[in-house]
Amino acid sequence: MCGIFGIITLKPRAIGRDLVAGGKRLSYRGYDSVGCAVISNGNIDLRKDVGKIDEVSKTLNFSEMHGDMGVMQLRWATFGAPSKRNAQPHLDCNGDMVGAHNGNIVNTPQLMEQFIREGHTIRSTNDGELCIHAVEKYYDKGHGMVESIRKAYDDLKGDYAFIIFSNREKRLYAVKKGSGLVIGIGKDEMYCSSDLPSILPLTKKIVFIKDGEIASLSYKEVKLFRISDGREIEAKIVKYRESPEYAKKGGYEHFMLKEIHEQPVVAEDLVELLDDSKYVDKFLDVMRGSDKVFLVGCGSSYHACLVGSYYFGNIAKKTVIPVVAPQFISQYGHTVDDKTCVVLVSQSGETKDVLNALNYAKGKTDKILGVMNVIGSTLMNSSKVYLPLAAGYEVSVPATKTFLNQCIMFLYLAKKMRGESCEDMRKVSNLIKKTVNSTDGACRKIAAYLKKWDELYSLGYGSTHGIAKEAALKIKEITYSHCEGMYSSEFKHGPLSAVRRGYPVLFISSPKDVDVMVSHINEVTCRGGRAIVIAEQSESILKNASELIQLPHSNDYIAPILATIPAQLIAYYMSTGRGINPDFPRNLSKTITVD
Ligand code: AGP
Repeated sequence: MCGIFGIITLKPRAIGRDLVAGGKRLSYRGYDSVGCAVISNGNIDLRKDVGKIDEVSKTLNFSEMHGDMGVMQLRWATFGAPSKRNAQPHLDCNGDMVGAHNGNIVNTPQLMEQFIREGHTIRSTNDGELCIHAVEKYYDKGHGMVESIRKAYDDLKGDYAFIIFSNREKRLYAVKKGSGLVIGIGKDEMYCSSDLPSILPLTKKIVFIKDGEIASLSYKEVKLFRISDGREIEAKIVKYRESPEYAKKGGYEHFMLKEIHEQPVVAEDLVELLDDSKYVDKFLDVMRGSDKVFLVGCGSSYHACLVGSYYFGNIAKKTVIPVVAPQFISQYGHTVDDKTCVVLVSQSGETKDVLNALNYAKGKTDKILGVMNVIGSTLMNSSKVYLPLAAGYEVSVPATKTFLNQCIMFLYLAKKMRGESCEDMRKVSNLIKKTVNSTDGACRKIAAYLKKWDELYSLGYGSTHGIAKEAALKIKEITYSHCEGMYSSEFKHGPLSAVRRGYPVLFISSPKDVDVMVSHINEVTCRGGRAIVIAEQSESILKNASELIQLPHSNDYIAPILATIPAQLIAYYMSTGRGINPDFPRNLSKTITVD
C-alpha cells in the first residue's frame, strides 16, 4: 500500500537508480502506479505512469534521472482511479515544488473544492496532490517550509506521511502522521522511506520519526521539529546491527513457496529467542495483572489471535478475547480501562486498523503489548512490551511464516503462563519440516482437483477453527475463488445446502476432536460431497474421509500449527495451477495503511 522513498545527496548524480532500487524494496506493499521526481539544476524532472516498477522505470528511463534530491512513490489507489495523472509524485501550481504521500487524506473532497476555489491548479483527483498544495499555500505567502508544513498538517485530516521539496532550497522535508516514516543517514546523503527494511541495505544509522514531527534533511544533517510548537527536538540515531535478509527467491519459483519452506528455521529461531528473552516474563506479567485481555489483529494475524485465545483459555485458563482490529473500538472500546490489557498482533506493525485500536487503547490503559515481525515498526515503538516474531523478511503478500510464528508464540506464552515447561517447543521445528516434506505431494494432487471449483468451505473445530479460517483466507487471497472458513458445527446451520456430488469441503482436525469431526465429515460425504481432511492418521478418519492429508504425530496443541502447512501448500498449488502469481495477488497489498 503506497510507499515513498526519498534521497538527498551532496553532489548531483544518477539518483534515479537508487530511487528505483528503494522503490522495489517497497513494492511488496502492493501498488498500481509508479512515479519518480528529481531536482536537477533547479529543474524538476517528474515521470510517472500506471504499471509495475520494472516496466514503468524502463519505459520512462528512471535510472537515467540525475539530480541531488528525489522521491519515488508507489501508489495503491484509494482517492482517484489508477491513472497517469493520479500517479504520484505531484507538483504544486507553478511546478517548483514536488512531493508524494503515503496514507489517506480523509477530507479530500472538501479540500479539493477549497483549493479549486482558492485558484490552485489541481491536476488529479488524488489526495496526495493535496499535500503539496496545502504546503504551497503557506510557502507562497512567505512562511518557511517547516512552518508551512506545520500549518498544512492542521488542514490535512487523516493519517499519512509525505516527502516534499522545492527547487528554491536544497533540503528535503518529510512529515509523519499515522503512517510509517524513517530516516537513514548515509555518507554524504540521507534517505527517507515508508519502512525500515527498505533503508537498511544503504545504511544502518536510523532516525525514527514520531507522529507529529517534521524532518528537515540536508545531505549531512537531520533536523527534527515538533508540529505542536515548532520547536526543534533531538534526532536520536539508532544503530542497527543485523542486515535484513533480502528478497531473493533462492531457487524457489515464488517467495510464497520459499517462505513456506523457511518455516522450520524461523520456528526454531523464535523458540530460541523466547527461551532467552527476559521480555517474555514482562509480557506475561502485564497479561496476568489485567482483568481483561484482548488479542487484536487483522486478516491472518486475527486468525492467529483466534488460535491464541484457544491456547490461553485451554492451557493457561486465562480468558483472552480475540477481536478483529476494526471492530475493537466499536464493540469493546467502552470496556477498556486501566486494568485492561490490549495485545496488538501484526506482521507489519503498520496496519492502520491495528494502529487505530492501539491509539484508542493508549488513551485508556498503559497495558499495551505488541507482537510484530517488522522491527522498528510503529507498533513496536508504541508498545509497553513487545515480542518480535523473528520470521525474517516476508515478501509474499500472503502471510505464511509470520502466521505460523504467531501461533507458535501464543502456544509458548500460554504454556509459560501456566507454568509448564516449553521444552517440547523445540521439537516443533522438526515437525514442521516433516510436514512440509510429507504433505507436498498430496497437496499438489488435491489442488489440481480443487482448482476446478469456484467455491469451497474450510471447517475447523476448537483449536483448528482459526486454522480453517486461515486456510480459507489463503485460498481466497491467491486463487480468487470463494472459500469460507468456519466452525464445523455451524456448517449444518445453512451452508450444508451447497453440498452436491463432488463438492469439496476441507476439514482440519486436532487428534482430540476427531470424533466430532467424523460426524461433521459424514454430513458432507453422505450427500455426495468430498471431504478432504487434514489430520493425523486414525482409523476413523481413514474410514470416513474422502482424502486424508496426513500430519506427523504430535499433540492437540501442536497439530493445529502443523495443519497450517498443507493448507498453505494447497492454496499455493491452486493459485499457480490457475496461472496466478501468489506473491502479488490482484488488488492486495502487504501492508494495509488505510482505514
Ligand atoms: C494475509 O495473507 C494477508 N495478507 C492479510 O490478511 C494480513 O494478514 C492483514 O492485512 C494483516 O496484516 P498485518 O499482520 O501486517 O497487520
